[in-house]
Amino acid sequence: MDKFKIIGKSRIAGEVSISGSKNAALPLLAAMLLPSDETVLHNVPTLKDTDTLIKLIKGMGVDIKKEGNTVIADARHVANYYAPYELVRTMRASILVLGALLGRFGEAEVSLPGGCSIGSRPVDQHLKAFEAMGATITVENGYVKAQAPAGGRLIGCDFSFDMVTVGGTENVIMAATLARGTTRLENCATEPEVVDLANMLVKMGAKIDGIGTPTMTIEGVEQLHGCEYSVIADRIETGSYLAGALMSEGDVLTKNTSAEFLHPVLKKFEAMGATITTGDDWIRAVMKGRPKAVDIRTQVHPGFPTDMQAQLMAVCCLADGTSTIIENIFENRFMHVPELQRLGANIKVDGHTAVVVGVDSFTPAPVMATDLRASMSLVMAAACAEGESVIDRIYHIDRGYDDVENKLKALGVNIERIKD
Ligand code: EPZ
Repeated sequence: MDKFKIIGKSRIAGEVSISGSKNAALPLLAAMLLPSDETVLHNVPTLKDTDTLIKLIKGMGVDIKKEGNTVIADARHVANYYAPYELVRTMRASILVLGALLGRFGEAEVSLPGGCSIGSRPVDQHLKAFEAMGATITVENGYVKAQAPAGGRLIGCDFSFDMVTVGGTENVIMAATLARGTTRLENCATEPEVVDLANMLVKMGAKIDGIGTPTMTIEGVEQLHGCEYSVIADRIETGSYLAGALMSEGDVLTKNTSAEFLHPVLKKFEAMGATITTGDDWIRAVMKGRPKAVDIRTQVHPGFPTDMQAQLMAVCCLADGTSTIIENIFENRFMHVPELQRLGANIKVDGHTAVVVGVDSFTPAPVMATDLRASMSLVMAAACAEGESVIDRIYHIDRGYDDVENKLKALGVNIERIKD
């Protein structure tokens, strides 16, 4: 497994261009299965996760290819409706093809994604919604087999999610676009990535009201057509690099991004003492002195995003004071804590609450990445430690951060990939 060797202490300063959002690109790629002709998707990040999903869609017989950051897919002919465990287990968001296949073809066989290090990640809400739309769902040998009612089309219905689920909302709106009749969904996720998907579906001819609100109404149509669309910027990548400035009295300019989706994070950065300036397509964070301690509670959008929790914890580790971080979305998203402690952090965890007592500096050590966002918190912490640190299992970071070494080098981080 590849490792990163990082030699600190660096002032994290410079400018980076932000890539397309991983968490928007994945549902948008799945949605390319819906039209019976060609779709062109721009600003797709180059990540292990997007590569895996493209491979999965290609395995269905779809003519799909990636040229630079543009993906072109012609779903005129789809030979099979099957998503194998070998691919799904490496990228759980593959479950998003289920809604598209069931909506368009009335059948699908998709491996259950299984859990990951941050939680069990069930998909009960996805399946409950499809059953409410008339599908017969059976789970055998780790696969979800879904079959629309006789006639091959799902039936629109009223459905309310038991809890807010980003993937569940995305899966169900994709299926509902081609259902017979109208589907009214309540308690939907309103994350920007869900909105991005809904906007592309409308461009494909879908009829969706209430986009960006917890209640969406989808009027089923007979067919969707292809379109040309561009993925929104990655707000979590943006926040991850800006956080480095707060840890090192730095100055980071992120370009090709938008402050629109990051308000709760930028407000926390300002509360910690950073000077945040923004433009139409850029955000800059300048930091003087130590960050101030803050309290953070992760919430569904528009609350503080759980995907920024690990990165903000790394900033809190250096704060002047004690911070409290409560993780409300996932049951096990503090895996970065023992690794940050190895780098000298003073953190105590009690259930879903982490109490972080700020220290003057991180100290170098060998550590291990445990999940995607934790990896970035360790990278930034290691960059702020005087001396050499090695981060193992960095395949986690390759899943979700495009061109990560070059972007970190552009920000002054002394980083080298050690190929295993
Ligand atoms: C998406 O995951 C993101 N991934 C996650 O980003 C993100 O952390 C999460 O949304 C929350 O914002 C992608 O978009 C590819 P959920 P998703 O369904 O859709 C429970 C990253 O780092 N739940 O909103 O899987 C679930 O267990 C990743 O980029 C059920 O119980 O998240 C979790 O506790 C990590 N039953 C909570 O809801 C269900 O049927 C939120 O999950 C569905 C979800």
